[in-house]
Amino acid sequence: MSEKKLARYTRIQLQLKDLLCKSDDLLSRMATINAVLYHKMDGFFWVGFYLLKDGRLLVGPYQGPLACLELSKSKGVCWEGINLGKPVVVPDVHEFPGHIACDARSKSEIVIPVRDNSNTIIGVLDIDSNLKNNFDNMDAEQLVKIITLLIE
Ligand code: SME
Repeated sequence: MSEKKLARYTRIQLQLKDLLCKSDDLLSRMATINAVLYHKMDGFFWVGFYLLKDGRLLVGPYQGPLACLELSKSKGVCWEGINLGKPVVVPDVHEFPGHIACDARSKSEIVIPVRDNSNTIIGVLDIDSNLKNNFDNMDAEQLVKIITLLIE
């Protein structure tokens, strides 16, 4: 990752710390994370949360083009993140077997599992890019840090 991208993540984390302490509501916090990431990071074409409800994975707050409302069980990148319990980086979505294309413009993707304060997975943060290979392990590290702010 470039120095510039890392510096941007660092600034965003500081900004989000300030913003998120204004509300303890999970959905309000998720919506705020989406808005900041979507508008400040290059090539973040869709940013949002898919949330587990009774074993189903349903769309939550997001920014970007219209997305699938529900993701078929154990198929695609989001379910992979839930099932593995760790971040999934997909440099080229067309190479990922079972990838669910909500928008044909998406070319790469990253998924970060979201846990509650009992460490139970409650969903994922999903980010799509219109650029191939837009995410790497450094994005995963930085986004994991951002996601921990949800429950602090
Ligand atoms: N591509 C995801 C589906 C959600 S959209 O990207 C917004 C997947 O394969 O799970």
